[in-house]
Amino acid sequence: MPMVSRVLDAAAVTTLSRYVEQGGGRGLDAARRLGPSAVLDDVDASGLRGRGGAGFPTGRKWRTIVDNQSPVGPPSVVVNAAEGEPGSFKDRAILRRNPYRVLEGALVAAATVGASRVVVALKASFLSELERLRTAVDEVRAAGWADGVEIILVEGPSAYLYGEETALLEVIDGRQPFPRIAPPFRHGIDEVGDDTASAAGVVMATSAEATTAAPTLVNNVETMANVAAILAEGPDWFRATGTAASPGTIVCTVSGRTLRHGVAEFPMGTPLREVIETIGGGPAGERLVAAMSGVANPLVPESLLDTPLTYEDMEAIDSGLGAAGFIVFDDTSDLVAVAHGVSRFLAVESCGQCTPCKHDGIGVAEVLHRLIGGQAREGDVELVERRLTTVADGARCYLAHQHQRVVESILRLFPEAVRDHAAVGAAPVEPELITAIVDIEGDRAVLDEAHADKQPDWTFADVYSGQAPADRIDQRVADAQDPEDASNGTT
Ligand SMILES: Cc1cc2nc3c(=O)[nH]c(=O)nc-3n(C[C@H](O)[C@H](O)[C@H](O)COP(=O)(O)O)c2cc1C
Ligand code: SF4
Repeated sequence: MPMVSRVLDAAAVTTLSRYVEQGGGRGLDAARRLGPSAVLDDVDASGLRGRGGAGFPTGRKWRTIVDNQSPVGPPSVVVNAAEGEPGSFKDRAILRRNPYRVLEGALVAAATVGASRVVVALKASFLSELERLRTAVDEVRAAGWADGVEIILVEGPSAYLYGEETALLEVIDGRQPFPRIAPPFRHGIDEVGDDTASAAGVVMATSAEATTAAPTLVNNVETMANVAAILAEGPDWFRATGTAASPGTIVCTVSGRTLRHGVAEFPMGTPLREVIETIGGGPAGERLVAAMSGVANPLVPESLLDTPLTYEDMEAIDSGLGAAGFIVFDDTSDLVAVAHGVSRFLAVESCGQCTPCKHDGIGVAEVLHRLIGGQAREGDVELVERRLTTVADGARCYLAHQHQRVVESILRLFPEAVRDHAAVGAAPVEPELITAIVDIEGDRAVLDEAHADKQPDWTFADVYSGQAPADRIDQRVADAQDPEDASNGTT
């Protein structure tokens, strides 16, 4: 299936007037003309599913916000632009090409749920995207698109968990990115705090029943970028591409052991192999071995690379679409080093509010480090397997399950590689850095190399203090350890 251009514009749209010339603004006009109820019907009928990773039906999420209005104040709309999933660059690609499309979608959402505030939450280190957004917000305001709606940009920390939506709301509220206990929908900004509810002593969101705080709608950048055209062209137009259960398109990132790296948009249902070949131009080595959708889902082995990219097909092979950021491995990759890279990334990024996630996570990473270092001890593989069974016990967010699922899949899919590393006297191999993409320059992804020195306490000290971030960090003190961080700035 050929590449398409619905939400990832083929060329950068540099002014609001250019966007309007190309049809921009019609979605917002339609939304204001139709009114909330008809917009909800259209978004429902389109079948749009959230592109942040979980594929949750967008219409259903919006309806929940409308149905749970608060007597205290109007809801807020938050655009999750914190993109930190290893292997993913699609949200930044969309924002760089056309921030107006994302803002238009967010303003449609605000008009629909009755929000008077739109927050775009991204990382302070996303300088290009911030610049594009600042200009776009000024233009959108000047054009009257945002009348009655305040638009705020929040510049958050580099932590992976910042992208988890309840952690995102914590950051917007001026706290650290530690996930909350999830109510069925999000209360958010201006949350009524309850400091008894947090394992870490962090002021947490109260439960859905115990608060009258206004609900908050959180949607991913790509989800929002889809909204305007659904209103302008209609749900049938949207459904004409993709499958019945996964309509529309998907913006994919390809990096790792391919000839090229990049981002492109495809109809949902395009086989993963075709996406890897089109963007990546084939394996850097002799043959593809596997692909991994971020650090969120089990690996897809070569034999299953023809799987169509839809939520249902990826689930049917016991993996997942995630943010469609595919890290590709070829015959030169050491899959146990990949398992270690994933485990180390997630163990470091765990906030430690749930003890098994942090402790067992670090334990898994340590044993895998021994295995790739040629220092395996008797029973190490069983030790990894045992710790994987407990790492997600009582987990407050999905990160711990990701650790369990991804590492378990590598042990299951590549038993020979594991056995080789577990043998006494096995040769050591280089670690594989699994971390966020900071940019795509030309056709190469630039990785966040500094992550190799990040400690599990979120400092860059020479040694790990032994304290989890949730124990170490004062809840209202911005994390100044990472030189890239200037967390909690608001513009
Ligand atoms: C550890 C973790 C990290 C996440 N990172 C991101 C992220 O960077 N961007 C994002 O949009 N969603 C991220 N998510 C998913 C969000 O929690 C949430 O599901 C999403 O913003 C909802 O938007 P959607 O309904 O439009 O998909 C993450 C989830 C987890 C568990
Ligand atoms: S599961 Fe892990 S990352 Fe998520 S809240 Fe608990 S300790 Fe933090």
